[in-house]
Amino acid sequence: MGTHISDFQVRGAALTISTRAILFRGQSKSGNTLWHTATPPILSEALFFKRMRATRFTQSHEFLMTHAPTTDTRLDLSQLLSRRAQSIDASGIRKVFDLAAHLKDPINLSIGQPDFPVPEVLKRAAIKAIEENRNGYTQTQGCPELLHAIWQRLGSELNWTHDAAHGLSAIVTSGTSGALILAMMCLLDAGDEAIVPDPYFVMYPQIAALTGGKMVLCDTYPDFRMTAARIEKLITPRTKTVLLNSPGNPTGVVLTSGELSDIVDLCRAKNVLLISDEIYDEFTFSEFREEGRFPTPARFTKDCLLIRGFGKTYGCTGWRLGFAAGPHDLVQSIAKLQQYTYVCAPSMAQYAVAHAYEVDMQPWVDRFERRRDTVLEAFEGIANITRPGGAFYAFVEVPKSLNLTASEFVEKAIERSVLIIPGKVFSTRDTHFRLSFAAKEEMLAKGLGILRDIMQGR
Ligand SMILES: Cc1ncc(COP(=O)(O)O)c(C=O)c1O
Repeated sequence: MGTHISDFQVRGAALTISTRAILFRGQSKSGNTLWHTATPPILSEALFFKRMRATRFTQSHEFLMTHAPTTDTRLDLSQLLSRRAQSIDASGIRKVFDLAAHLKDPINLSIGQPDFPVPEVLKRAAIKAIEENRNGYTQTQGCPELLHAIWQRLGSELNWTHDAAHGLSAIVTSGTSGALILAMMCLLDAGDEAIVPDPYFVMYPQIAALTGGKMVLCDTYPDFRMTAARIEKLITPRTKTVLLNSPGNPTGVVLTSGELSDIVDLCRAKNVLLISDEIYDEFTFSEFREEGRFPTPARFTKDCLLIRGFGKTYGCTGWRLGFAAGPHDLVQSIAKLQQYTYVCAPSMAQYAVAHAYEVDMQPWVDRFERRRDTVLEAFEGIANITRPGGAFYAFVEVPKSLNLTASEFVEKAIERSVLIIPGKVFSTRDTHFRLSFAAKEEMLAKGLGILRDIMQGR
């Protein structure tokens, strides 16, 4: 063990002892609580400890030998955790929530999920599935009802059909995240590269630690468009995949069909797999739809992996449901990994969401579009925002005249009870903040007023 008892101030107590190990709780010189197990090679140190705490130790020894609750046993996990786990920093979003923990009634414009309840029909279907005892595993690829609904949707929307001739498959996953991580695990060996946008959804850079691959950031400032020209410069012999996200988190930017078709051509020419994270597909606002439809690379190729979700669209993020559809062999590989990791997506949620496409979410999409307009109006002439075409986020530039980083601006906002997320959580830069308009209109208006005031030095 790396920690020696002599490093402790002897204020701790020996908690358990056996012939094989002794466990101490102590305090480091910097005041942190430390747990320490001593095994036979360093039992001499344990004896030193015993002398120091002789009375208490002898009194507690017999008791601990017979009654020590095993829950007291703690390992020195810093010695055990993998480099992978240790390299992942706690989400910056959580840090903002920590900063705001003392606020009583914050004006919360930081939330990454919709503010509407799950549609009744889906709630009832989930309850029904549970009550009918359909609570066991489903097939790894998903329950037939949901797969059927997915193929109906993909057929009518994209002319994608599930047959051998098309070479396409689909798999239901534990959230969109489940699909993303399994797909990346299928594609990336150590050192292989994936090109992802900057700014990005918080998970994307962490895929490197989870897979051993390298996430190559595609700088999309200032317009947040991940174009073929920007991607092409980053392609190397190690590039396996390009990950697109439109509508994007945190910017709301929607790519056009023209841009998408150029990216499809580039990926085809370079033999790189295109992954399209379309979790916000339904939340594409009217002016960014093309002939009423959401622009997706899947209209131009079947050689791309579509990743979509149900959580954001139907307000059931906690149900953990998404799917991936695309080249059969890739989807089969994802299924192999799913079999030994998630096993299947949550069953009652699958039975419920099989009815999702019966629900019309358009009234909510329209409402989000009106909120988007409110945000744009609030900052007009005060701060730069790239017009969000979908999702429920705006990525607002902190006015340069303030001479503040986005993190500093966010601290000022939190002092006035408004919760927003600094750009550096989603980016290598710290110049913007993400504002979520998945918040009731009254709260949104109040928050926007305060943010404007801060920007105008009031
Ligand atoms: C772009 C993007 N992709 C994926 C996810 C993960 O979604 P899920 O909850 O379905 O795993 C999110 C969640 O915020 C997201 O914004």
